[in-house]
Amino acid sequence: MEKIPGGDTSWFVHDRFGMAIHWGTYALAARHEWVQSQERIPTDKYRTYFDHFYPDLYEPREWARMAREAGMKYFVITAKHHEGFCLWDTKFTDYKASNTPWGKDVLTPMVDAFRAEGIRVGLYYSLVDWNHADFTVDRIHPMRDNKDERAKNPQRDIRKYAEYMRNQVQELLTQFGKIDILWFDFSYPGEDGKGRDDWESEQLYALIRDLAPQVIIDSRLDLPGAGDFVAPEQFQPSECPKNDKEEPVVWEALHTFSGSWGYHRDELTWKSVPQLLGMLIDGVSKGGNLLLNVGPTGRGEFDHRAQERLAGIGAWMRQHSRSIYGCGAAPKELTPPPDCRYTYNKETNRLYLHIMAWPFVHIHCTGLAGRVEYAQMLHDASEVQMKGLENWQKQAAWKTSDNVLWLSLPVLKPNVDIPVIELFLKK
Ligand code: GLC
Repeated sequence: MEKIPGGDTSWFVHDRFGMAIHWGTYALAARHEWVQSQERIPTDKYRTYFDHFYPDLYEPREWARMAREAGMKYFVITAKHHEGFCLWDTKFTDYKASNTPWGKDVLTPMVDAFRAEGIRVGLYYSLVDWNHADFTVDRIHPMRDNKDERAKNPQRDIRKYAEYMRNQVQELLTQFGKIDILWFDFSYPGEDGKGRDDWESEQLYALIRDLAPQVIIDSRLDLPGAGDFVAPEQFQPSECPKNDKEEPVVWEALHTFSGSWGYHRDELTWKSVPQLLGMLIDGVSKGGNLLLNVGPTGRGEFDHRAQERLAGIGAWMRQHSRSIYGCGAAPKELTPPPDCRYTYNKETNRLYLHIMAWPFVHIHCTGLAGRVEYAQMLHDASEVQMKGLENWQKQAAWKTSDNVLWLSLPVLKPNVDIPVIELFLKK
């Protein structure tokens, strides 16, 4: 398959860690961003959230500060999600933040605030739209079981919807300064679904490339060969994803804190800080990124569970980001010890050993004997001595392979969520 020329991913594979934000009127329902579809809520009833949208505690500079302090280098905000509600003051629909009781565009101040913190800007744009009059009722639509609504499909013109999307994407790419990522979601071709013919993906893609050659785009437009990265969602791939020529591709895993993307008041399945860090580290060790999602509340705040986790991640990142930024997979011949992940920075020639479960006194690194010039704990720059067993310990006929580096650890796990050893490799 021919690869269609894409955007500039050089910064993306360096920065590694971003924040997704799902915010729309579903934050008021507070029970999943798909609530309209899941509960088959008709448009007029669903409108009650629009009529009550009033995020009086919205302070985007606070959001941006929390993202920066967590070590996130880019963010991706749902300019429009499946419900069709637009955060910016678009010319092409009335279903937008500026027409709610809040009465203002909420996207511009957000983009400005994140940029001011040095965070790159990504816009998520839903291909799905349950509010648009020309969007035909299909298998995921809230009105899928409603015969009368289905019967109106012949009067709906999906080509008009495709044009609407191009108009809006043009606004997004021209009114908000330089956009680094466009994140389209999603295609579901086949029976009673939608894909590239409905979205007119080719035209949409050409328009984007014309307006913003550098912008990077995910691969959910159902356009074979187009897309700058792939996005495994809610799972960690077991290895770096590959294209059909078996070459590794640029990728980003997307994860939630608790399961849903929009604010969900009653969800209890919140991941812990070490689990979240584990996903970031695991991703980088396979050459990938992590996009971690926050669902702000209807009043415009990150709820306390998100704030606690972001702070915990930030505490670790402050001391350990050197093992994340600019890093990727270790040279192929190196297999990490059990319960560990390697990341590697080519430029500095340093290898980072992340210890997910603290072992006892020694750790054995196969293939590294004689290759390391110096080793230290990353969080406090304390030396990690490279030495094996004492003679008296070898009495039980202990044999050790030649090509193993022994690292001598403290008995107690250092007081950080995931300890990292920085290995300075010899030239
Ligand atoms: C899933 C969710 C959707 C969310 C998306 C992010 O498809 O259903 O709501 O926006 O993931 O990739």
